[in-house]
Amino acid sequence: MPQRIPNPSAPITPQPIRSGIDVAINGQHFRHTGDPDLPLLWYLRDVLRLTGCKYGCDDHSCGACSVIVNGKLGRACALTMHDVANAAITTVEGLAGPDGKLHPVQQAWIDEDAILCGYCQAGQIMAAVDLLGRKPQPTDADIDGITNLCRCGSYPRIRRAIKRAAKTVQGRSR
Ligand code: FES
Ligand code: FES
Repeated sequence: MPQRIPNPSAPITPQPIRSGIDVAINGQHFRHTGDPDLPLLWYLRDVLRLTGCKYGCDDHSCGACSVIVNGKLGRACALTMHDVANAAITTVEGLAGPDGKLHPVQQAWIDEDAILCGYCQAGQIMAAVDLLGRKPQPTDADIDGITNLCRCGSYPRIRRAIKRAAKTVQGRSR
């Protein structure tokens, strides 16, 4: 059978090499070509090895997996890759500056010794970053509005750390 020769004057439509879901994570572009229903948490932890976010519950309630998605706090266990198509996501690994300087919230966590076992703390930090983005001078009630669970009870330390970070950020903006 003779081989069909494509018409050289026909328009050429570029095809993607492999279709998938595009996401920007900590400023880097990635394409997920697997199951669109894969939870974001497993993509971050198992595919990209960004293991700061943790799996802490099976009902989307603890907040250990908290990340920022398009500027809003989100729970990576409750979002599928399909949900985050074309989103910009920040994880705790993306908070420090390019020179390695810690984010004021991370530094405040160290200065206030906020970390006990540590399991929940990446999520707590992301929740604090989100809160300070919305409320630069949070009240105790604002801080109490963070629903992330700490099974070690580090809440008083977290409160102090958030207040310290708020002062640092405010001092920088003067
Ligand atoms: S693991 Fe996501 S909210 Fe608990
Ligand atoms: S520091 Fe242990 S669960 Fe929060």
